[in-house]
This record gives sequence, C-alpha cells and structure tokens, in this order.
Amino acid sequence: MMYTKKYVVITGASSGIGYATAKAFAKRGKNLILVARREEKLKELEQQIKSIDSTLEVVIKVVDLSVEKNTYQLFEQLEKYEIETWINNAGFGYYSMLADQNFAKTISMIRLNIEALTILSMLYVKKYQDVEGSQLINISSAGGYTIVPTAITYCGTKFYVSSFTEGLDHELKDSGARLKAKVLAPAATQTEFGKVANNVERYDYDKAFGTYHTSDQMANFLLELYDSDKTVGYVSREKFSFELTGGRFDYSGNSSNNQKS
Ligand SMILES: NC(=O)c1ccc[n+]([C@@H]2O[C@H](COP(=O)([O-])OP(=O)(O)OC[C@H]3O[C@@H](n4cnc5c(N)ncnc54)[C@H](OP(=O)(O)O)[C@@H]3O)[C@@H](O)[C@H]2O)c1
Repeated sequence: MMYTKKYVVITGASSGIGYATAKAFAKRGKNLILVARREEKLKELEQQIKSIDSTLEVVIKVVDLSVEKNTYQLFEQLEKYEIETWINNAGFGYYSMLADQNFAKTISMIRLNIEALTILSMLYVKKYQDVEGSQLINISSAGGYTIVPTAITYCGTKFYVSSFTEGLDHELKDSGARLKAKVLAPAATQTEFGKVANNVERYDYDKAFGTYHTSDQMANFLLELYDSDKTVGYVSREKFSFELTGGRFDYSGNSSNNQKS
C-alpha cells in the first residue's frame, strides 16, 4: 500500500497524559489518531490540535479497549494509515486492599492495562518491526518498578507493562529490527487518574500527594524519551526527577542456561 502521510496513535487521548501528549505532538507537526471512549473529549482535543496547526490530519476512534475484539478491530480499521509511532497510554489504577476490590473493576483494569496493550503491541510489532523510525511507547508507572501499598493489582499490571516492553526492546535489538520499544514510567501526575483509581467525583492532588507533575510536564518527558535512544523514561517516586536509562530489569540475554535454539 502507498501511504501519503504518517500518524502518531495515542490511546487514552481524551484526558490527562494522553491529551497533553497529543497537543505536544501536534506542536511538532504530527498527524494524530486519537483513541478513547469519550467522543466529545476527543472532538474538543481535535479542535485544540487544529488551532495549533490547521494543516494537521486528526482521526478519532471511539472505542472501549477493555473488550478484546475491539482491539483487533481498531488495528484493522487503521491499516490504511502509516503509523510511525504507537503510544499505548490508556490505562487506569485501583487504590484498594485486595480483599475489598470489586471483581469487575479489577478484571477490566487487567484487560485494559495488560491485554489490550499486549494485543496492540503485537499487531504493531508484526507490521512495523522493520520500518526505520517506528516507535512503540508503552505507558507504565513508577509503580511498575516499585510495589505501592493499597495498589498491588495495579502495580502488578504495570510491572507487566515494564518487563514486557523492556523485554520486547531487547528482542527487537537482538534480532536487528528497526522498531524501538520504550517505556514511560510516570509518578504522580495530575490527571483524572486519582478520581478513577479511588472511585470519587473530586480528587485533590495537593492533599493526596503534595508533589506531582502536570500532564504537560509528563508529555514533555515523553517527548524526551521519544527523541532519545534510551529504553526507559523513569520518574522517581521519591525525588520526582526524570531520568532516561537503558532497561531497569535484569536480562538473561547471554546466559548459557537459556533454552538452546
Ligand atoms: N496520573 C498518574 O499519577 C499516573 C502515574 C503513573 C502512570 N500513569 C498511567 O498513565 C496513563 C494515562 O493515565 P492518566 O493519568 O492520564 O489518567 P486519565 O486522565 O484517567 O486518562 C486515562 C485515559 O485512558 C482512557 N481509557 C480509560 N479506560 C478506557 C477504555 N476502556 N478504553 C479506551 N480508553 C480508556 C480514558 O478515556 P475514556 O474514559 O474517554 O475512555 C483516558 O483518556 C495510564 O496508563 C496510567 O496508568 C498515571
């Protein structure tokens, strides 16, 4: 297929980090494909993008990614676009002791944070692994490297995102692929995350955390990661500093104890 334009896909673009990241890419002249469930928020974002640069193409996809078949359907509908960057950002948290957790919410979190992210990563890698300049950026969390009290299931999903994406980056490098896989690991960021994770209508980040980043700051960190040749963009939960590093997990790439091929 002959493509004429390139696009950046952002899942979870209707608020928070995804919303700010879409505007940051628009300022760099990137065409955007915006994915989330709330159409009116995506339309509002489209207007903002057009006011940044009226020549940009914006595609809106209203989809619930916690339903498995929707993830395949979304990718199929995007076959006609050349996607230079895919950002799996849609996700949510859940602050609650395990014994108090609601099954439906926990399973839906696992479906979105793990299942949808894995399927969309697989589809993107299968199609774009040999395309120079392509990037897959998965949004994990500082809680994807450190276990946070009362958020253990959420942290479990994010440990998955971190280790899966770091592992994928090793695999792509080891096999000489062109595609880069990267992890962004934010600490507290002022978004709708706090409301969703605590099942509340209002959430005060000043009271709850005191120290946090804004979603615009996080979008700039994401761009730093995008521009770098490092694998992980990590925000320290203690110092709130941002650092770009290679993988943070051990990798048994050269071990003689690996399965012999
Ligand atoms: N904020 C933080 O402190 C923090 C810290 C570490 C990591 N993170 C991670 O950063 C990412 C972005 O979160 P955020 O902080 O920006 O929170 P947010 O403001 O709540 O944004 C979450 C986005 O995900 C979308 N989403 C939720 N459920 C969805 C579904 N079933 N299908 C499709 N889209 C869905 C939401 O859109 P709709 O509701 O319109 O579908 C929204 O656009 C998440 O992966 C989160 O885990 C956040």
